[in-house]
Amino acid sequence: MLNGPNLNLLGVRKPEVYGRTTLADIEASLKEQAQQLGLEIVFMQSNHEGDLVDAIQQARVQGAGIIINPAAYTHTSIALHDALEAAELPVVEVHLSNIHRRESFRQHSFVSPQATAVIAGAGARGYNLALTFLAEHLAQQG
Ligand code: DQA
Repeated sequence: MLNGPNLNLLGVRKPEVYGRTTLADIEASLKEQAQQLGLEIVFMQSNHEGDLVDAIQQARVQGAGIIINPAAYTHTSIALHDALEAAELPVVEVHLSNIHRRESFRQHSFVSPQATAVIAGAGARGYNLALTFLAEHLAQQG
């Protein structure tokens, strides 16, 4: 599970938009959910585009799927698009806020064309929904 720039500030950054749940809370919840599902989950947050590309390339060889909130890089990063394309893994793109009802510059995603599913506007719960979906998707794929 990858989180992009400024998501380390969840809980204090614009809580009226992103909620009061911290990234540590979200990761603890996903860890517990993954254990119940019998899956291993690895967490990574970075404010740096290249580090996120490196993490996607690592997932490509070590992982079964990717949950990613690319944050502002959603709207700018062809590098993340290309890394996800090369990974050839199921990808769930998550946004805490509904980017489609916000500023126009948030309404285009370079990541969505590479996403199996997109969850936006469900708040922190969106990450749990993403993991539920990914587990079912992987089980279906065998
Ligand atoms: C976000 C939405 C992005 O537009 C923004 O830059 C973020 C967070 C979200 O989770 O709602 O940092 O990805």
